[in-house]
Amino acid sequence: MKTRITELLGIEHPIIQGGMHFVGFAELAAAVSNAGGLGIITGLTQKTPALLAREIQRCREMTNKPFGVNLTFLPMFSEPPYPEYIRVIIEGGIKIVETAGRNPQAYLLQLKDAGIKVIHKCTSVRFALKAESIGCDAVSVDGFECGGHPGEDDVPNFILLPRAAEVLKIPFVASGGMADGRSLVAALALGADGINMGTRFIATADAPVHDRVKEAIVAATELDTRLIMRGLRNTERVLKSASVERLLEIEREKGLALTIADLHEQVAGVYPRVMINGEMEAGAWSCGMVAGLIHDVPTVKELINRIMAEAEQLINVRLSNMSRQVSSA
Ligand SMILES: Cc1cc2nc3c(=O)[nH]c(=O)nc-3n(C[C@H](O)[C@H](O)[C@H](O)COP(=O)(O)O)c2cc1C
Repeated sequence: MKTRITELLGIEHPIIQGGMHFVGFAELAAAVSNAGGLGIITGLTQKTPALLAREIQRCREMTNKPFGVNLTFLPMFSEPPYPEYIRVIIEGGIKIVETAGRNPQAYLLQLKDAGIKVIHKCTSVRFALKAESIGCDAVSVDGFECGGHPGEDDVPNFILLPRAAEVLKIPFVASGGMADGRSLVAALALGADGINMGTRFIATADAPVHDRVKEAIVAATELDTRLIMRGLRNTERVLKSASVERLLEIEREKGLALTIADLHEQVAGVYPRVMINGEMEAGAWSCGMVAGLIHDVPTVKELINRIMAEAEQLINVRLSNMSRQVSSA
């Protein structure tokens, strides 16, 4: 399939794997890129810029297709050395960067000068327009249903995507709630140029995470996510668990006096314990409502081929038959 996003990124299918903390290692990024999508290594999962350089090198040994690096600018317990991470991204020959969180303007010129295409992930039309105005090449528009940080506007993709299409000139991908060929065709119909998936890619054979994480996603329904840190204006959609219920209890108890330090036990250092060790009660980890649409653990290649086959079938058979019936009526 050819869209503005496949053309911009030099990929075969309009499917991107969003950066995911302690999931977006070289194994997953290479599997997605080898299957014709765009795989993305999560920069800050690598504790130092030198480790990121090594991860980029490892990924290059697993694929000769384009892949990207995610750089997330979110409130953290300590600020990472972003200029150093950017240096190794440029020196590692990366040509696509996914930014997320804060506005990436401070680093944009340096990235663009190195010939890097920047896709900024945003959760609102105004942030998407801002990204376009500062020179981002594309945006990834994340609806309220997404796993991770949906922002504070709570606009779901059925409204957010067509609104983005009304005003944006640069290409954009639909993110949040995307799982299959139906999602892809719907996203294209709403004006997007492709899709970005997070949660769906975790439940694949290639995701280098503990099997218990994949099993939890398959077992979850669309009712099983919770929104945490709303009071801190740092909302995150996570999978429910006893630990998350405890966190929500603390939020209710503290009310307006809540600070990030109150949640330290449930949010700090949780990802390696969950994703690598499979300690499912270690704390809060991001998961999208799309878990309700995830029923199996295919390889990335099977998943992407299935999405593309289903999308072609929907467009060429289901929708095209409906359209023929209308025109012959
Ligand atoms: C476990 C997990 C970790 C994530 N970590 C990050 C991250 O570090 N940086 C980032 O920009 N997005 C992160 N995301 C968001 C994804 O890149 C993507 O935007 C989101 O998952 C899309 O929604 P979906 O899960 O419904 O597909 C994460 C998502 C999940 C599920």
